[in-house]
Amino acid sequence: MDTLTELVSDDLSAVENLLSERAASPVATIPDMSAYLISAGGKRLRPLITLAAAYAAGGSGTPPLHSLAAAVEFIHTATLLHDDVVDESDLRRGKKAAKMVWGNSASILVGDFLFARAFTLMVETRSIRILDILSNASCVIAEGEVKQLAAIGRADLPIPEYMEIVEAKTAALFEAAARAGALTVVNEGNESDGLAEYGRRLGRAFQLVDDALDYDGSTSVIGKAIGDDFREGKLTLPVLLAREAGDSTAKEFWDRAMNVSKQTEADLETAINYIHEADTVSATLNAARDEVAKAKEALSVLPPSIYVDALADIADFCVDRAY
Ligand code: IPE
Ligand code: IPE
Ligand code: MG
Ligand code: MG
Repeated sequence: MDTLTELVSDDLSAVENLLSERAASPVATIPDMSAYLISAGGKRLRPLITLAAAYAAGGSGTPPLHSLAAAVEFIHTATLLHDDVVDESDLRRGKKAAKMVWGNSASILVGDFLFARAFTLMVETRSIRILDILSNASCVIAEGEVKQLAAIGRADLPIPEYMEIVEAKTAALFEAAARAGALTVVNEGNESDGLAEYGRRLGRAFQLVDDALDYDGSTSVIGKAIGDDFREGKLTLPVLLAREAGDSTAKEFWDRAMNVSKQTEADLETAINYIHEADTVSATLNAARDEVAKAKEALSVLPPSIYVDALADIADFCVDRAY
């Protein structure tokens, strides 16, 4: 991660400038809330992938690349503003979630602004194909979020359906970030397909790790509250596997506790115990490692370079980030 950040540090500064500049608006809440969230940090993983994908495809950092990378981060930022309202999460990037400061309605509307702003930035690439990729990814993310909403409380959610949600809500943007980055340099083909597959696999791994951390991480490291998924009745792999491995008492517990209206204060601790007993955080991280291996394999179609190596390092970072 650090290697890549150093390799593209000039590009990343240009992207940071765009993120501040383009959040400008005469309507004060928009720049206020945007600055609050953008300056709180964030790993900038998706724009980094866009930048590195362009370099890995042989690019030299031409200007539309910065607009594209900023567009990708704005889409991500918009989904976070919306996501914390939907998930009723109080903490983001180690600070109070924006909705705790400005309220739900403002969070949704500023999220809409940033989404729209992302499209202004995309147009600056003058590429209909890139617009196609990112607008499509935006639809898929929204579909994933709606699909997930419908799956809340369904303790018997099949694992393939869970993976479909992961693929849509998270992997789609990683995939689009990588493919669009590549397409600023090369035409469609093995290289852009390889980078897109890298992004997709990395996105799946990233969400799996995020879902493991929700039961096993620490707030100081992830900047989010532990147990949010549980309290919300969101079925994720550590839970699905623990339920699958559990005896009838465990299954009864999961079937009741994932129904939020029947959940009690003490249930999170019991859930974590069941998860430890069945060792499903490890199993989830192993599934993420498999995805990372596939992500790295997908890079083999590219000519070797420091950027390809940095992309491979980022993939490892995604699994190791909190351990
Ligand atoms: C959070 O993404 C949303 C998920 C897909 C889990 P990040 O963990 O990349 O968020 P920031 O931008 O670094 O805060
Ligand atoms: C991440 O969703 C995906 C999007 C924001 C679209 P999550 O709800 O799993 O992510 P966190 O844990 O809040 O960051
Ligand atoms: Mg969330
Ligand atoms: Mg969510």
